[in-house]
Amino acid sequence: MRTNIVAGNWKMNTTVEEGVKLVSEIVEKSKDLSNVKLIVAPPFTHIFSVGEKIRGTATGLSAQNCASEAKGAFTGEVSSEMLASLNVEYVIIGHSERREYYKESDEILLKKIKLALASGISPIFCAGENLAEREANRHFEVVKKQIEEVVFKINETDFEKIIIAYEPVWAIGTGKTATAEQAQEIHAYIRKVLSAKFGEKAENTSILYGGSCKPGNAKEIFSKPDVDGGLIGGASLNADEFIAIAKSF
Ligand code: 13P
Repeated sequence: MRTNIVAGNWKMNTTVEEGVKLVSEIVEKSKDLSNVKLIVAPPFTHIFSVGEKIRGTATGLSAQNCASEAKGAFTGEVSSEMLASLNVEYVIIGHSERREYYKESDEILLKKIKLALASGISPIFCAGENLAEREANRHFEVVKKQIEEVVFKINETDFEKIIIAYEPVWAIGTGKTATAEQAQEIHAYIRKVLSAKFGEKAENTSILYGGSCKPGNAKEIFSKPDVDGGLIGGASLNADEFIAIAKSF
């Protein structure tokens, strides 16, 4: 059985005070949720305070990124060990914003994923095509390569800890979503790609959809058999919307 997950990627939003308020509301409003795992991914600066608020609750704590080196003279970076020392359980790796704006290559993402796993942190690995690639009908090939270049290079035991997020770049923050059918089609394809390498284990991998997921469209998208939840950007900054999305299961 795979776990249904709804994760909130706060990106570079909220002050620490606002973030603590947001997570407090999420904890309060999610008390009766039982069939879905909630995860919040606040900015680094909020992790300690948000972690304090969710300690002992069912809500999981994620970072949005980690360094590609273990330690040393890398000014401004935050290592996976530092995150683990704050009880961070998940880290988003390979978000399209990191790939595009910070030029994170597959090679860098592989280093990050290995370091996260070595620190006992589960990577939420993002893959997804841009608009030109979708229009050229290249989305399958693009996503396959993103997965092969990183996820295929970890061992089977580590693979069990990976969560995949399919995030079509054209749907992120644009208000456009993939249709439920488009999501199902590519999620099923991703699972097929994963099973070619990891066999039966791919059946247990949670594959999340991300890209303008809102209370109004989550139910239909999550109803598809290979969609195991969502990675939510904008709507995760509002506790009511975030919980409404989680209640779509
Ligand atoms: P939006 O939900 O704002 O489109 O963002 C999706 C996303 O990038 C989550 O990581």
